[in-house]
Amino acid sequence: MKDIIKIFDTTLRDGEQSPGASMNIEEKIKLAIQLEKLGVDVIEAGFAASSPGDFEAISKIAQVMKNSCVCSLSRALDNDIITASKAIAPAKNKRIHTFIATSPIHMEYKLKMKPDEVIKRAISAVSLAKSLCEDVEFSCEDACRSDIGFLKEILDAVISAGATTLNIPDTVGYRLPNEIGKIIKELSDFVNNRAIISIHCHNDLGLATANSLEAIKNGARQIECTINGLGERAGNTSLEEVIMSIKTRRDFFSDFDTNINTKEIYPTSKLVSDITGINPQPNKAIVGKNAFAHESGIHQDGMLKNKETYEIINPSDIGIELDSTLVLGKHSGRAAFKDKAKILGFILNDDELDNAFNKFKILCDSKKDIFDDDLREILGEETTHIPKVFRLNMLQVSICSSGKFCAATSIFKEDVEYSDSALGNGAVDCILKSIDRISGFQGKLKDYKVCSVTSGKDALAKVVVKVEFEPNKPALIGHGLDIDTMSATAKAYISALNSYLSMKDLIANKDGTMLFR
Ligand code: KIV
Ligand code: ZN
Repeated sequence: MKDIIKIFDTTLRDGEQSPGASMNIEEKIKLAIQLEKLGVDVIEAGFAASSPGDFEAISKIAQVMKNSCVCSLSRALDNDIITASKAIAPAKNKRIHTFIATSPIHMEYKLKMKPDEVIKRAISAVSLAKSLCEDVEFSCEDACRSDIGFLKEILDAVISAGATTLNIPDTVGYRLPNEIGKIIKELSDFVNNRAIISIHCHNDLGLATANSLEAIKNGARQIECTINGLGERAGNTSLEEVIMSIKTRRDFFSDFDTNINTKEIYPTSKLVSDITGINPQPNKAIVGKNAFAHESGIHQDGMLKNKETYEIINPSDIGIELDSTLVLGKHSGRAAFKDKAKILGFILNDDELDNAFNKFKILCDSKKDIFDDDLREILGEETTHIPKVFRLNMLQVSICSSGKFCAATSIFKEDVEYSDSALGNGAVDCILKSIDRISGFQGKLKDYKVCSVTSGKDALAKVVVKVEFEPNKPALIGHGLDIDTMSATAKAYISALNSYLSMKDLIANKDGTMLFR
């Protein structure tokens, strides 16, 4: 019998804490549904007490999850724990995750608490959590720089108080694999199956995956990780790297298995980069753009003779179907389109399907080859359910004799058309100004990225913007897709505005969302 390693995904909590990775509620729900499809055992859906938006997102995710356990983080404070338990209440399977720092430096300077006070606080937090939820995880923040004797003392105490999972974070990504192995072995022997030992690594030295794998070898039975390795500073352990290491090196990990469906790795990675606007570096293991690209002649020659000369993973194992990248065309019908959407993992209702199909047909008129990635973008856009208060109708940008740019813009607000124009110092400037004039909201553009969805002169332009609509509140992300880059820009800005309007009352002050790093 193989030991199942539980996969605890924290993309929605630790991942979302990485600069620029904030997501709105609809996007979080969409991602949680995809994570469940991927097969993760536990979804850390957020930190309920950190903001009303986080609370709402966790609670909505708790309502829709069928199999995965839904978890909220909470400091070792009564109010945090009670708030977490309320947020996860609708879930079929739920967990409260409470933590307190245990390293000398954190206890002295951050908590300003003595070690025995920390133990007391931990016991009281776990006891309260246990009275509200059967499944309780306790984390010793900065465990890997803590005294091992102290760790044993506090773990012993929280096991008696009811903790069922004990998480050992390398919060600052400081440890080397052999050191992590030693720590986990000693704690695992000490705990002696009274609770599950979990590992949570950060990637400051690029060792998060290696450290997590070493922890498995030494007794950890849960790995905490994120998609694309998203997370604080250099990120968290990357889910796809750990999973594909276990699968590819079955010889080494023969005693272990996970519940992950590896075919969902690529779609999940793509969804996370689409939502956050953060693409993995091109040479990122498993999901980077170049992870399966063979450029040199010698490699290409080897690949043609036998793929295994240079490929240790079959791309289709992670859901990349290289042979079917060129798909539907101008003459494809609705049924074929629906079929393809299903293959790509999108389940649409009739309205969504109609809208997506219309967009596909319009695209066919201006673009010769339609690729899977084009379709993923169209379908992704259609399955994001943020109320579209504003919609772009028409845009015209021209250069005036003064050298200034002028945008004439027409927008629908709930089916009524409004139009206006504005001058600006460039095309983007005047487009955004004209939208501000129509909507009555003043956005500050914090980030602007444009990329092509596929290759070719007629490729779709994808624009991702980050816009701040209120000072001292987090910026909202917007996405726009169009053959024309300027129209994609206008759509992205309007999508950020719609996102802002849908969660205006739920956005905490910047300070509020940064309670824990
Ligand atoms: O890095 C860390 O220590 C954490 C804990 C809250 C688990 O994220
Ligand atoms: Zn962390």
